[in-house]
Amino acid sequence: MFGPQAAEMAARVERLKQERDAVLLAHYYVAPEVQAVADYVGDSFALAKLAVSLPNRVLVVAGVEFMGESMKLLNPEKTVLMPDPGADCPMAHMIDKQTVDAARAEYGDDLAVVCYVNSTAEAKSLSDVCVTSSNAVSVVRAMPQHHILFVPDRNLGRYVAQQVPEKHVILNDGCCPFHAAITAQEVERLKREHPEAPVLAHPECTERVLALADCIGSTAEIIEYAATHDALEYIVVTMKGVASELERRCGASRRFLFVQDSECPEMAKISLAKVASCLQDMTGEVRMADGDASERAKASLERMLAYAGR
Ligand code: 13P
Ligand code: SF4
Repeated sequence: MFGPQAAEMAARVERLKQERDAVLLAHYYVAPEVQAVADYVGDSFALAKLAVSLPNRVLVVAGVEFMGESMKLLNPEKTVLMPDPGADCPMAHMIDKQTVDAARAEYGDDLAVVCYVNSTAEAKSLSDVCVTSSNAVSVVRAMPQHHILFVPDRNLGRYVAQQVPEKHVILNDGCCPFHAAITAQEVERLKREHPEAPVLAHPECTERVLALADCIGSTAEIIEYAATHDALEYIVVTMKGVASELERRCGASRRFLFVQDSECPEMAKISLAKVASCLQDMTGEVRMADGDASERAKASLERMLAYAGR
């Protein structure tokens, strides 16, 4: 299905994975041909959880920088490789220490800083617990503190605040530029053209877009919804990368409609050739500084795994 060149490259990746005792972990947003050779494809939470249970010596992360950092923090003894170390999520940087310090000064011990995994290791080190889009609501609900500073994504933070009204959630002014750019008008147009199609949206979308959704969830939850419902068409309001897993799980008789241009350009940087080359030369290794900051970031990730596993 991918042509002779991609097939040859895929065979090379398979061979190199064996030679290096490597496992390839891919996010649903990366190119279909990369997903096709991955040992595991998942949302951010599934990939973080998996990371702590794999026996392989080398973890290759087909995703953006924060994913590689999280894998390394959770597996300091393993070699973690990024096929393109320059692939970075812009939202990961949309939080500063002053915002965290100001909230801590105002609310003291009754404040928890809750950090979406789409964040730098430094942001995680300033936080009490990490979350992903698939566990943010349940983790925030389980926190003993009443005040929650949610960073960096204001859209996911606002969605969580609506689901957990008993908490006082303070929002930070960060967002995913690609999800936030999707307009309610574009979704309404698709709804007019396909009135029977349920709308499945990622919580990084704006409030007006989420108000139009029948299902709000992580990439894995969106895929699961379509795979377990009967509609023939779905309006999918997230990045187009999820299409290959939707088609694999749901079969060719279903149609998935996306808002035009909804692609994460950072995830799109990961090509099969880059996967092969990082395995060949063992390049793109993620290194985290030793010390307190990395320990604190790791503790925030581990607290997420503990809360989400309850
Ligand atoms: P998921 O955790 O839903 O896979 O989302 C990650 C992401 O980057 C969404 O933009
Ligand atoms: Fe970051 Fe948005 Fe890309 Fe997700 S889609 S990795 S939030 S830039």
